[in-house]
Amino acid sequence: MNYIGSKLKLSSWIYEEIRKVVGHDLSDKIFCDMFAGTSIVGRTFKSHVKKVIANDIEYYSFVLNKNYIENHEKIENQHELIEELNSLPLSYDGFIFKNYCHGSGSGRQYFSDENGQKIDAIRLKIQEWKKTKKIDEKIYFFLLASLIESADKVANTASVYGAFLKHVKASAKKDLLLESANFELTNSSHEVHCEDSNELIKKISGDILYLDPPYNQRQYGANYHLLNTIAKYDDFTPKGVSGLREYNRSNYCKKQIVAHEFDCLIKNANFKYIFLSYNNEGLLSEEQTRDIMQKYGTYHLKKKHYQRFRADKAQNRNHKANSTYEYLHVLKKRI
Ligand SMILES: C[S@@+](CC[C@H](N)C(=O)[O-])C[C@H]1O[C@@H](n2cnc3c(N)ncnc32)[C@H](O)[C@@H]1O
Repeated sequence: MNYIGSKLKLSSWIYEEIRKVVGHDLSDKIFCDMFAGTSIVGRTFKSHVKKVIANDIEYYSFVLNKNYIENHEKIENQHELIEELNSLPLSYDGFIFKNYCHGSGSGRQYFSDENGQKIDAIRLKIQEWKKTKKIDEKIYFFLLASLIESADKVANTASVYGAFLKHVKASAKKDLLLESANFELTNSSHEVHCEDSNELIKKISGDILYLDPPYNQRQYGANYHLLNTIAKYDDFTPKGVSGLREYNRSNYCKKQIVAHEFDCLIKNANFKYIFLSYNNEGLLSEEQTRDIMQKYGTYHLKKKHYQRFRADKAQNRNHKANSTYEYLHVLKKRI
């Protein structure tokens, strides 16, 4: 999935840098991905560590992590289930079609009419299967993650869900095809949370803490609201032209309090090794970050030149450059 701040292209670099500090064999280590987003960093470590703890405040991310991280045993009938969902008749009065497609008169066009109706049909059937216990929790999250990923591929947006496009773009005209969100099988089990990082940090401990908080004011809950709506499938009145739902406002997106928030997170972390991914155009400066981290132990910084993820088209971008530096701040904490 195209995701703001995704570490898809950086995850192998992060993995190597972490091994240089912690050691090559991570098999007895507990690794926590505290701001897990798409789950890609946790996935990179999943088969190399004893346990992954993944967390994100957003529910769609929780769903992705429940599948890609917590699921670790084979699902026997996954192909039959995916096939059955793909051949369902369309649903004409579901929440997505009614509120986010043009043909229902909603005034919004996040999906073509057929794709909106197909999302509704699949989502309703997954819920029915859960209710009648045809599927267990493991399969429920596998199917939901598959739906989120497949729906995102045919979304009629420039990239995030802050706005839809006036005309249906070519990729959004394609028929939604539910594809399996395949996860890695491991012998060991993993743990997934959906909490504010600064609350969760007081309740967990481990060896390696990987932090990838938002680095600017753009709230993920607003930019990806429709993924939460598909994942939760609850009833609410969508607001305004974009059809927003109530969303989380992360303290990491607020200039005045981000430094204090980050300081508390590091202070309360019961982890020996802490790694922070941050961007050189973030709300916290390089110096501020260093000053906070080095209060708690031995600190150093790694930098990598990196081609940015472009959420907006070139004409209306207000970023300064096409490429940027990705920072990996490293702390060996005094415990
Ligand atoms: C830069 S993205 C992480 C990207 C992720 N590493 C990936 O590669 O997909 C930041 C994430 O932090 C989450 N987030 C923001 N504030 C949070 C908070 N206070 N606690 C937990 N998660 C938070 C957002 O929902 C978002 O998914």
